[in-house]
Amino acid sequence: MTASDLDIVILAAGKGTRMRSNLPKVLHPVGGRPLLQHVVDSARALGSDRILVIVGHGAEQVEKRLAADDIQFVAQTEQLGTGHAVQQALPHFRDDATVLILYGDVPLTRAETLRDLADTVTDKTIGLLTVNLPDPGAYGRILRNGQGQVEAIVEYKDATDEQRKINEINTGIMAAKASHLREWLPQLSNDNAQGEYYLTDIIAMACQSGMGIHVAQPAEAEEVEGINNRQQQAALERYYQRRQADELMVQGVTLLDPARFDCRGRLSVGRDVVIDVNGVFEGDVVLEDGVHLEPNCYLKDCVIGAGTQIKANSVIEGAQVAANCAIGPFARLRPGTQLAEGAKIGNFVETKKASIGAGSKVNHLSYIGDTTMGAGVNIGAGTITCNYDGVNKFRTDIGDGVFVGSNTALVAPVKLGKEATVGAGSVITRDIPDAELAVARGKQRNIQGWQRPTKK
Ligand code: UD1
Ligand code: CA
Repeated sequence: MTASDLDIVILAAGKGTRMRSNLPKVLHPVGGRPLLQHVVDSARALGSDRILVIVGHGAEQVEKRLAADDIQFVAQTEQLGTGHAVQQALPHFRDDATVLILYGDVPLTRAETLRDLADTVTDKTIGLLTVNLPDPGAYGRILRNGQGQVEAIVEYKDATDEQRKINEINTGIMAAKASHLREWLPQLSNDNAQGEYYLTDIIAMACQSGMGIHVAQPAEAEEVEGINNRQQQAALERYYQRRQADELMVQGVTLLDPARFDCRGRLSVGRDVVIDVNGVFEGDVVLEDGVHLEPNCYLKDCVIGAGTQIKANSVIEGAQVAANCAIGPFARLRPGTQLAEGAKIGNFVETKKASIGAGSKVNHLSYIGDTTMGAGVNIGAGTITCNYDGVNKFRTDIGDGVFVGSNTALVAPVKLGKEATVGAGSVITRDIPDAELAVARGKQRNIQGWQRPTKK
């Protein structure tokens, strides 16, 4: 089978009442991505060029959030059951296609599991994904005959007490030829406990017409777990994070506690990266060789160069950090921050749209925004770039080797020439030529013979 004749239909029209939310269920996140997005991404990973999403409840929101050139949305205006849902897609299947049926609220099935299932489909067999659960709850049960062959699926609400003891359940995921679905789906009836058109009834139809049912099972049960409420969402979030943590450890990362690690985007790592507890990663994050993160760091869309140390409680977003820098503890690097090699950003320092030259240090209690800073600069504690006049933003330009004394306000636009020095407590409003000293503060007066006040 080639990918070109794999059609994938994703059922996502249900309401998700138990989430008790205004957001359609399939838009709730796991790992920072909507459930449905995970399913669509798996469909893409299989190389399918026909992905059909059945939408109903919250269709407008779902279509807006997931819109992409390679996805086709199909409306199911009334939710009359899973069989009825797939039926809506029948006109869109290619005649000789294998159709893989997925669920928008079952986000974490591995692509390999799905590929194995789709690959078993022939003109004489359909593929069914089942799993054995110690506590099978309200899932549909798999009925097998004396030879162990699958004969039918019975929904929990329609099952006898004896059938409810069966541990093998229907994950809902199956694959069959489009031509067979076209034959069977119109024959479904809704004469059952829920008055719905059950997709599961096609299994018995297939058996009766002499077809084989090929069963596949996932490597881990969580792969086929669906989300119906917030508890299940939280449980799958932990599973998803554990899976990512495992992948990182396989790549050689040290995670001090894989249970206290959260990646809600894509994290790329070099060799010998160490991540202490409570690291949270969003968007695209790159940690090059030997990066060390202390506890409680939040990183979003950033590149951290080799050997850089990020101390506890730092927040880094939209920043490019070169090799061997030191950041934090309690540093905040905002979008547009660029640190050249060996730069240091210390505690309670905020940077924004600032490029900090090689080896420059901003070690304590500062705000550096809209700034270009050269190499070898030392910024004293409590220095603020005053970049905003209440209406417009202005830039500060600091040359190589500048030394700024503590508690200085640099009122932008302003330029500090190379090797310039600023006396502590200055308010700098004019440019400073290269190598000059600027002092801009009230002159000290000492008053001789001054008497301290006394208590009356
Ligand atoms: C279904 C299966 C059950 C299986 C279980 C696995 C049937 C009849 N039953 O039951 O055997 O164990 O999944 O989770 O198929 N949906 C639509 N349109 C509809 C109805 C459902 O799009 O008209 C979507 C829902 O949004 C959901 C999925 O299909 O994503 C499953 O529907 P749901 O009603 O949850 O099926 P179950 O009763 O759980
Ligand atoms: Ca369900």
